[in-house]
Amino acid sequence: MFAAAVLFAFALVVALVARWLKARRLRLPPGPPPDPFIGNLRQMAFTNQEQMFESWGKTYVWAGTRFSATCPTASVPEHRRLIQDHFNQQAILAYRPLQRLETCTLLLGLLQKPEAFIRHVRRFSAGTIMKITYGHTVKSMDELYVRLAEDAAHETVSAGSPGSMLVDFFPALKFLPAWMPGAGFKRHALKTRVKVRRMLDIPFKMVQRTMAAGTAIPSFVSDLIIANESDSKHKQYEEEDIKGAAGVLYGAATDTTSALLISFFLAMTLHPDVLRKAQAEIEEKVGPDRLPDFEDRDSLPYVDSIVKEVYRAMTRSEDMYTDPHTFYPERFMNQDSQTAEMTDPKNVVFGFGRRLCPGKFFGDANIWLVVASVLAAFDITKRRNDRGEEIPPLVDYASGFVSNEAAQVPKLDVSNEGLASMKYDAMGPLVVNSDGTVSRITNWPNMTELERERTMKVLIARNKLRLAKQDADDPSSTPLSMAGSAGEASK
Ligand code: HEM
Repeated sequence: MFAAAVLFAFALVVALVARWLKARRLRLPPGPPPDPFIGNLRQMAFTNQEQMFESWGKTYVWAGTRFSATCPTASVPEHRRLIQDHFNQQAILAYRPLQRLETCTLLLGLLQKPEAFIRHVRRFSAGTIMKITYGHTVKSMDELYVRLAEDAAHETVSAGSPGSMLVDFFPALKFLPAWMPGAGFKRHALKTRVKVRRMLDIPFKMVQRTMAAGTAIPSFVSDLIIANESDSKHKQYEEEDIKGAAGVLYGAATDTTSALLISFFLAMTLHPDVLRKAQAEIEEKVGPDRLPDFEDRDSLPYVDSIVKEVYRAMTRSEDMYTDPHTFYPERFMNQDSQTAEMTDPKNVVFGFGRRLCPGKFFGDANIWLVVASVLAAFDITKRRNDRGEEIPPLVDYASGFVSNEAAQVPKLDVSNEGLASMKYDAMGPLVVNSDGTVSRITNWPNMTELERERTMKVLIARNKLRLAKQDADDPSSTPLSMAGSAGEASK
């Protein structure tokens, strides 16, 4: 025990001195005054860090840069390069059929079980990225590949936000043996490593297996494996890099997308006037017979302003936006092009420079399509209690990796506290036609309750079958020829 204590004390002193020497060399923008040796450790909040950063942002300003505090992060350039090739503005056009299909599945889920909307949204986020990454269709959040990815992500996130542990400040502490008191972070890291390993290996092997059997749906991973096999002497990519880039994609794409979409539902529950205005715009510009599509984006400026405002709600900069705590899409309407560019929250929420989100265009297209489609198909209202009174939604944001880094994850208890109850509008439920297009039942308003109930049963079953059939039969309707390919597959 004595030897362990001496070892610990020695590691701490080495870490402190190394850190102090490094801090002296760095010239950083202003921040809260650091203490000798331990830097900003004392001032760091370990939960709800976004509130701390917001307050620092008001106090420490320098040449347009906000406060600085020392906390290292890491990024693997090889992964980034692979991802960028598959998610640039040209390449993502090939994913549009998949995005439409997944959006349609989301709408059907909402029709069937509106109270489970968080689950539908999470399945959508997982479904789009799993299909692109591994060619795998996600039917439920309980299946193997999703569980593996969710477990690994959960384990990673539960380690705490960046900068919430001593080892974030003193990296030398990672050399402590796992059994030592105070090295709980290391035991957690070892457990996480096992989960991450499984999440990287198991779906990769599935792609190898299906490729060998000739049944693989082309994907990010299969493209890279093929690229490697095309030159037997010189491998273009290390297998570990392919696995790593694929693994990063799930974690980076799912929580961010889900958090933004859930925030959208919350905003619509709280702001029925905004919802109505957007629905009127869709009704006028798109009409009642089809869902909005990517090409409609420019003609739906108010819907686009809602999307921007959902992003903007993640940034609370008082310098950039008046009254930043108010949800107000109108702030983005009728701007000249220069102001529009300067105030576009996409320039902020997807990160900057070397760390710019490589999924920016794909992620934004996903958010837009779901927002526009949900607005076209549903009313979103507050739930009512037995006396018919509206129940105010529970607004509570969990602290964690995503809420600090990219988006905020609402903790919304729909079933008990009541958030949104969605009902059909007069337009009637969606019908998936055999050619993959979507329409509505024209005589829905004239049907009796019983007729509607029966129609729904048949419709839901048939829609599901048609979606599954399209998915299985028509590989060209999924993001197939991905390596360097552009152009949109058939609608
Ligand atoms: C739609 C909402 C999204 C938001 C708000 C968002 C935001 C961000 C931000 C702020 C970063 C930088 C993090 C940092 O500095 O450490 C980032 C990184 C990243 N994002 Fe996104 N993202 C979104 C969606 C996506 C999607 C859909 C994908 C995948 C297709 C994706 C892939 C990535 C990857 C791979 C990184 C890591 C890049 C690196 O470490 O170099 N993101 N994202």
